[in-house]
Amino acid sequence: MEGIQGMNDLGRVVEADRAHVWHHLAQHKAFETADPRVIVEGKGIRVWDAKGKEYIDAVSGGVWTVNVGYGRESIADAVRDQLVKMNYFAGAAGSVPGALFAEKLITKMPGLTRVYYSNSGSEANEKVYKMVRQISARHHGGKKWKILYRDRDYHGTTIAALASGGQDERSSQYGPFPEGFVRVPHCLEYRKQWDVENYGERAADAIEEVILREGPDTVGAIVLEPVTAGGGVIVPPKGYWERVQEICKKYDILLHIDEVVCGMGRAGAWFGYQLYGIKPDFVTMAKGVASGYAAISCTVTTERVFDMFKDDASDPMSYFRDISTFGGCTSGPAAALENMRIIEDEDLIGNTVAMGERCLNNLSALMEKHKVIGDVRGKGLFLGAELVADRQTKEPVAEKLAAQVVAECGAQGVIIGVTNRSLPGFNNTLCLAPALIATPDNIDEITGAIDVALTRVFG
Ligand SMILES: Cc1ncc(COP(=O)(O)O)c(C=O)c1O
Repeated sequence: MEGIQGMNDLGRVVEADRAHVWHHLAQHKAFETADPRVIVEGKGIRVWDAKGKEYIDAVSGGVWTVNVGYGRESIADAVRDQLVKMNYFAGAAGSVPGALFAEKLITKMPGLTRVYYSNSGSEANEKVYKMVRQISARHHGGKKWKILYRDRDYHGTTIAALASGGQDERSSQYGPFPEGFVRVPHCLEYRKQWDVENYGERAADAIEEVILREGPDTVGAIVLEPVTAGGGVIVPPKGYWERVQEICKKYDILLHIDEVVCGMGRAGAWFGYQLYGIKPDFVTMAKGVASGYAAISCTVTTERVFDMFKDDASDPMSYFRDISTFGGCTSGPAAALENMRIIEDEDLIGNTVAMGERCLNNLSALMEKHKVIGDVRGKGLFLGAELVADRQTKEPVAEKLAAQVVAECGAQGVIIGVTNRSLPGFNNTLCLAPALIATPDNIDEITGAIDVALTRVFG
């Protein structure tokens, strides 16, 4: 009883939160003098906090997750129906929604056939790292064990995921890290590392240079985000992906695309890699898969990779000896099936392309007006505006000024994001990733608030 009354008393909820909850990615000293934000309700693209303030959420649940928007009763119903029938059984067995979702998912992913379930993006990526290591042990005599990753990309929060992370403010102080993860340069042309015409090809050639330095027979895989998200919204330049694909083929390197952010429509296609004609060996996904209505992540791969784990049934060590307890929860695939149905039936991918274009145009117009915007970029409904103190030198604005822009948008009832504890000195890119249901008015409201915020902070 007491608990239920407590739930209805939001003042008490805020106090309980302040007293006992350790928030993600938050310096708690601030909560000694200000209330922690507690979000209590959501509908469509909007949320309400414990004080009753309404916001338009331009970051889909803070971290680009709630692709189909809040308050979807059909997903809640699908999850409820599934839970009362069969909530859980370990993933060594199958489940009805697990089988049906895998079948539906691979219809959108030509060339890929197998889905391995777990429940966070970090975990989905770690599954690939384990598969690559096991392939090395069983099929390459212990060679090809290294995994390349790119500067500025992020693949998760666990120790091995951080070892493969190109964002030093996320990994700093959490080492030592496991061996065998090797960094390649990022491909952000705005922050040029080579003065050439064909920047995309040149940035990809930098990967080949690392492979040759390390020795091609030591490198088993490369993990890349299709569009780098939290590392500054980086859309790879023309020619980049074609060359990456060639390099992988040339040196027999497995290509792992991390779609944790871009997957499920966010970038204006079912998956970001499909915008570039890439043929990956592994695709990982999490956030938008069930839009946050249930925890689910997937590691998807080819029959060629899958076969390497069943080639010798007489060897008790030959198969993928891995388990994710909650990868057996049926709520994830049940929610994911309905989530996919919504994206299809409401043509949310078409809407994402159209609204993404509108948003990019609006941001470009803001760039004409505010010289603090040095660059705008993005794909679909994942967009960024990089703030600089000087357009000539491209010196980033002070982090606290970028944070002030976010706060000024919040004051107007618009939640936007900014690259956060990501790259030392470069937490200066505003991020937008509204739900894929966003309307033209929503987009204009979001960019309108940014206009006002930039004027308030920079004049
Ligand atoms: C590209 C990318 N990969 C992986 C992850 C990790 O996902 P999770 O937080 O679910 O472990 C994230 C999280 O932001 C991400 O942005």
